[in-house]
Amino acid sequence: MADIKNLFEELLSVTNDNTKVIDLLKEIEAILSIKSIDYSDESATDINLSQGIAISSKLAAQCFTDYLRTHRFMLGTYLCTQKLLNQKTKPIRILYAGTGPYATIVLPLLYLLSKEEISITAIEINHDSYAAAKHLIRKLKKEEYFDSFLLTDAITYNPNKEFDIIISETMDKALTREPQLAIFSNLINYLSANGNLIPECIKVDIVASSVYLEKDAPHFCFDDPEIRLINQKHRQFIDNIIYADQHFFETRKLTPNQNEFLKTINTNQIKENLNELIFITEVIVFNDIVLLEGDSEITKKYICYSFTEMDKGKNLDLYYLNNESPRITITPKN
Ligand SMILES: C[S@@+](CC[C@H](N)C(=O)[O-])C[C@H]1O[C@@H](n2cnc3c(N)ncnc32)[C@H](O)[C@@H]1O
Repeated sequence: MADIKNLFEELLSVTNDNTKVIDLLKEIEAILSIKSIDYSDESATDINLSQGIAISSKLAAQCFTDYLRTHRFMLGTYLCTQKLLNQKTKPIRILYAGTGPYATIVLPLLYLLSKEEISITAIEINHDSYAAAKHLIRKLKKEEYFDSFLLTDAITYNPNKEFDIIISETMDKALTREPQLAIFSNLINYLSANGNLIPECIKVDIVASSVYLEKDAPHFCFDDPEIRLINQKHRQFIDNIIYADQHFFETRKLTPNQNEFLKTINTNQIKENLNELIFITEVIVFNDIVLLEGDSEITKKYICYSFTEMDKGKNLDLYYLNNESPRITITPKN
């Protein structure tokens, strides 16, 4: 059986061979016995939070198999530690909010870096995921990499120190359902000078299209540049709606239960035959490590609006709802 350290080394050296990425992650999955965990019925329940849901332990476990997502987050995080190790005093302090049952994103660091180089504070709000992640880290004998492992809510977490890297992947397509923005909106207060958020930026654009012209990738088939090209030909780009980078979180203080105004879009410019609006999500994990539309579950397109006779030509207001069911909404202006 291959050595897990070699597998992680190989995984993080692959940049543009997605088949290889998936094969390597499947091998790692088998070695860590990740698939063999038996989940109880309770593990299949989502937890309601003030600003979104924390997905069930069972669903969080399945995130591992969103393979390109897993690879890009592992690689982006590793490259970010390499950059900071050249700039900052050791250890690099990492805050990982929402570990899921496997602390997936930091796993390569536990094999490729020394315990003097990084110190991880891990947070998870779902009890089953928290217990499973702690169990896995103990089984791998990697506890020394962790400063603390807390069962707490990252939206309100209030540490007494700063971190050089803050990681969270608590999002769904078009920033629906999960609390990524609320979490970063809180944790930005604890990011050190020249520190990094992972992902660096979440970008949501709005395009006009028609359901009759749109091509879809087969279910659970990710990374389809061909389909992206086909769809680009008939789509009409309207505007960028959210560009959630460090600057966004520093300048926009999201308030719980308050709608955040994003943009007004004018629909006069939209071509006659395009009757739907679609949110397109892209995730810039770190530098040029990105997830494009269709690369993962979290960057799937989201059809968000169908025009009626009444509202074509009107202005539409877009808001981010920062409540227990977060999402971007579209309201026609009278
Ligand atoms: C999409 S899963 C990702 C899991 C893992 N990080 C990965 O990349 O595979 C998000 C995880 O964040 C946790 N989570 C969501 N909201 C949270 C919060 N407010 N505080 C702490 N953990 C949270 C969920 O319970 C879930 O385990």
